[in-house]
Amino acid sequence: MNILVIGSGGREHALCWSLKKSPLIDTLYCAPGNGGIEDVATCVPIKVDDIPAILEFCQSEKIDFVVVGPEVPLVLGLVDALENLGIKSFGPRAGAAVLEGSKGFMKDLCRDYNIPTATYGRFRTADEAKAYLMGQQMPIVIKADGLAAGKGVIIAETLDQAKATVDDIFTGLFGDAGAEIVIEEFMTGEEASFFVLSDGENILPLATAQDHKAVGDGDTGPNTGGMGAYSPAPVMTTEMIALTMDRIIAPTVAAMKDRGVPFTGVLYAGLMITAEGPKLIEYNVRFGDPECQVLCALLKSDLLPALMATATGTLPDISLDWSPDSALTVVMAADGYPGPYEKNTVIGGLDQANELEDVIVFHAGTIRKDNRVFATGGRVLGITATGKTVKQAQEKAYSGVKAIEWPQGFCRSDIGWRAIDRIV
Ligand code: AMP
Ligand code: GLY
Repeated sequence: MNILVIGSGGREHALCWSLKKSPLIDTLYCAPGNGGIEDVATCVPIKVDDIPAILEFCQSEKIDFVVVGPEVPLVLGLVDALENLGIKSFGPRAGAAVLEGSKGFMKDLCRDYNIPTATYGRFRTADEAKAYLMGQQMPIVIKADGLAAGKGVIIAETLDQAKATVDDIFTGLFGDAGAEIVIEEFMTGEEASFFVLSDGENILPLATAQDHKAVGDGDTGPNTGGMGAYSPAPVMTTEMIALTMDRIIAPTVAAMKDRGVPFTGVLYAGLMITAEGPKLIEYNVRFGDPECQVLCALLKSDLLPALMATATGTLPDISLDWSPDSALTVVMAADGYPGPYEKNTVIGGLDQANELEDVIVFHAGTIRKDNRVFATGGRVLGITATGKTVKQAQEKAYSGVKAIEWPQGFCRSDIGWRAIDRIV
């Protein structure tokens, strides 16, 4: 089979690295890919949101199956467009991708189906939003309704700050994504991510993970796309997973089917584990990045049949074999990220890092030119390692970081601290 993966991040490198092992694949393509993906797939220079170009490529290269990595093409309807051409793909149709594409839609669905989440209001004008704020406790969470590359969430500590945030969003802080806002109760607890596959009806739980969103050690500084992750997340005990399945995941999959927009793909629940049990923070309709890197490092089965069964309504035929180990990814980013950063700096030591036992370097914002690798993005590498414990995986991942020669890059030095503190 000919397979096309859409995307250019560490997530897509991990997916391509896993898929490459499948005996079912003749040619693996990635659009647009990156400097590391080139090692395992044929990269084609097509942007993830250029739907006409993707469709044309799929027809000319006789692509049998498309795996969509990021949310933007899903929300734009890439899966629907491929389906119209008779090409199957992994990921939800636009009507179901709205679970991530509109926070208001997700919140209304939770309300209608009694799915535990923060109490909220939806607003289209600053006056209405400010009137609602008057009766609320601080801190409070203010979110742009639409896609804002993970940056559309602001936690306001005071009423004045909350009102100023409302004005900022309605005057264009997040562009069109902020044409509508959601204001939510601030929940306290430990965060965890939970990933399942759904074929529209059946659900296959994958794994748990914890992300590190803040840029600095000790979870300080501005939020990023994710500076590191590990799997499994100890906070997600068997009991917590069962509660999450019963109260959150199963009712969501049933509700989407009920509404005529069945969810097919990977459903990524961002959870707050509160004193009352798991509550939904948000849904994403794709794998997390860097969480996908730790998941792929632990998966022992062929990934392709699972992704295809998700797309064809045959998930009950699939059972996945996972390593009992832990995996941990340390993200290396360009100095300055998530603010402005320098591009086209040279990265060395990649082979040395990859040669370390149980270490694999996934690329995100890189290109390869004349046999050298250059950093071109904010998040640049995901140094991923496995070990018997999170602590061991952490040690190995940081030995990988040490091998990398990239003076213009940085990473957090405490990825995994929550899991390690819990055990020690
Ligand atoms: P999101 O992009 O919705 O995942 O939000 C980004 C981060 O904001 C989350 O990972 C949480 O740390 C925080 N957050 C979002 N919503 C809430 C909430 N209702 N209560 C507390 N923290 C929240
Ligand atoms: N790591 C967070 C995300 O992928 O949304």
